[in-house]
Amino acid sequence: MKRNLITSSITALLVIAGTNGFPNAVANDNVVKANDFVELFEKLGGKHPGFRKAHARGLCASGTFVPTSNEYFNKAALLSNGVLPVSIRFSLGGANPNSDEKTPGARGIGMQIKLPNGALHTFTGNNFPVFAGKDPQTFYGFLSTLVPDENGKRDPARTMAYIQNNPSVQANAMWNKTAKTALSYANTEFFGIHTFYFEQPNGNKTKFRWHIEPSLGVKTLEKSEAAKMPTRFLADTLAQQLNDNTVSFKIMASLGEPEDSDINPSQQWPSERPQVSLGTVTVKSSGGDECKNTNFDPNILSSGFTPSADPVLRMRSATYAISFGKRLSGQ
Ligand code: HEM
Repeated sequence: MKRNLITSSITALLVIAGTNGFPNAVANDNVVKANDFVELFEKLGGKHPGFRKAHARGLCASGTFVPTSNEYFNKAALLSNGVLPVSIRFSLGGANPNSDEKTPGARGIGMQIKLPNGALHTFTGNNFPVFAGKDPQTFYGFLSTLVPDENGKRDPARTMAYIQNNPSVQANAMWNKTAKTALSYANTEFFGIHTFYFEQPNGNKTKFRWHIEPSLGVKTLEKSEAAKMPTRFLADTLAQQLNDNTVSFKIMASLGEPEDSDINPSQQWPSERPQVSLGTVTVKSSGGDECKNTNFDPNILSSGFTPSADPVLRMRSATYAISFGKRLSGQ
């Protein structure tokens, strides 16, 4: 009994320690590094050389972006160059490229819009509106509770305790609890979650968070319906929808007030914030591997746009770069 207690305490310490050997990665700011995330993702989803270390399972698509000009994004190059080409990747959360598409949970979108001068603008978001943690340390601590033990078993009590002790994880945990399986990528809404800024030529700054609304509406599968689906259906469903319909997504910006946090992605802004459209992405084709070697880093922005100082947003660039480098070199 005593031995078990000691073993589990050591295991807990090792899990929280990550790779850098510091035992209190959760408590100590700036201890969690980008590479710790990559290694943690591999512990959670396995090692899959050549694949993205998160959102490993995905589907490329391409389309066009038709901008909506408006006063808050006045003279943005993104919105004043007419119709632009977009490279898209839809994905399932997790590090396993063979994930079961019947499983409820995270679905992602990466969109890179190419401007005539070669500049890129990236929108990379998920289907949940709020992030699991106010900073990278909290998120890392949360994910660490999901690592299975040596017998492949998770410890839900440990995860529950972490959620209880870390309020900034709670809104996302609530979302996860009720999340259903997406019927199709074309029926999924996506949220940028972080705050971005656009500086107008007159110096005024627009503070915003973006989200994406599907033209075909949000549709999910009940548990019993999902159970009847094959393990893989998202590519075929989207291909069928592209045959039958116009599949498009409206990119909306919620305009922030001074009191709305620009550094905490676990804090949602009030729903009554004004919203303006940035434009519409219409998906024209899907399949192939055009997006395979793309890094959908959310900090790659076109002229006039800047990221906020959100530490999770910053951590994303560093982690995506490591994942990108690894997968391009077959690791
Ligand atoms: C500390 C927080 C986060 C870490 C460490 C992280 C890490 C990663 C990594 C390593 C990849 C693979 C990158 C590549 O190989 O190209 C990835 C992909 C992705 N992440 Fe994150 N992420 C974080 C937060 C988020 C958030 C907040 C969102 C949504 C708003 C998000 C959405 C996505 C999506 C959609 C992809 C797939 C992009 C693609 O298709 O290439 N991630 N993430």
